[in-house]
Amino acid sequence: MANGNRPLIPVPDPDRGAAEAFIAANTAPGHHPLVPEIRLCLASAITPIWHASEENLAAQGVEPPFWAFAWPGGAALARFLLDRPETVRAKDVLDIAAGSAIAAIAAGLSGAARVRAADIDALARAAIARNAGLNGVSVEVIAGDPLAVPPPTADLILAGDVFYDRKMAARIEPWLRAAQAGGAEVLVADPGRAYLPKSGLQVIGSYAVPTTLDLEDREVRKTVIYRLR
Ligand SMILES: C[S@@+](CC[C@H](N)C(=O)[O-])C[C@H]1O[C@@H](n2cnc3c(N)ncnc32)[C@H](O)[C@@H]1O
Repeated sequence: MANGNRPLIPVPDPDRGAAEAFIAANTAPGHHPLVPEIRLCLASAITPIWHASEENLAAQGVEPPFWAFAWPGGAALARFLLDRPETVRAKDVLDIAAGSAIAAIAAGLSGAARVRAADIDALARAAIARNAGLNGVSVEVIAGDPLAVPPPTADLILAGDVFYDRKMAARIEPWLRAAQAGGAEVLVADPGRAYLPKSGLQVIGSYAVPTTLDLEDREVRKTVIYRLR
């Protein structure tokens, strides 16, 4: 996202209707190049949110709009599930820190029995509902801070691009390990972030994921799919 002294853009009250209006006004339907099957409300150069800096969004109480981009982790997980539907077919799936919910939507399109998506950001949750609707899949949206409570029962947990900062990594790694200890299979997709755990991961796939210089420092990010072990 571009930084600098850009004009403020209108932001929503925390209620759902305003969040939906914000998403409608600030994104456009599009898709990640690796996952053309899934339509998402995305920031693009033609949308105001692309041009807003994190500083002026923060001044209005808006978190960085992670949900308005499909990150390499989510895109790689979605590609993996769409190409290997047996991974999710008939399963109870949770996408944690879902952002746009690209991975959750891929799970739904691939035959999961139940799909839930959790994100701490209220705008993300509104985007998840809208994106699920755009793709005709049912995704239950979980509110609040899911990492503040023990992991729910699930067959499969998807974690795309969650090791992007130290604080988040320190919270989510033990949570994912508790989920695995409780019987869930946990798939992590990571594009080389600094706080990826150094052990306890089995490589099960890898993609060269197209990205942009606005989001990352390169145009392609090798993104690895791991199974927690
Ligand atoms: C880099 S984005 C990844 C989004 C998505 N998984 C993807 O790969 O496109 C990280 C996401 O984690 C969410 N997040 C941060 N802390 C969280 C928490 N405690 N519980 C749930 N989600 C959280 C953010 O709101 C953001 O949507």
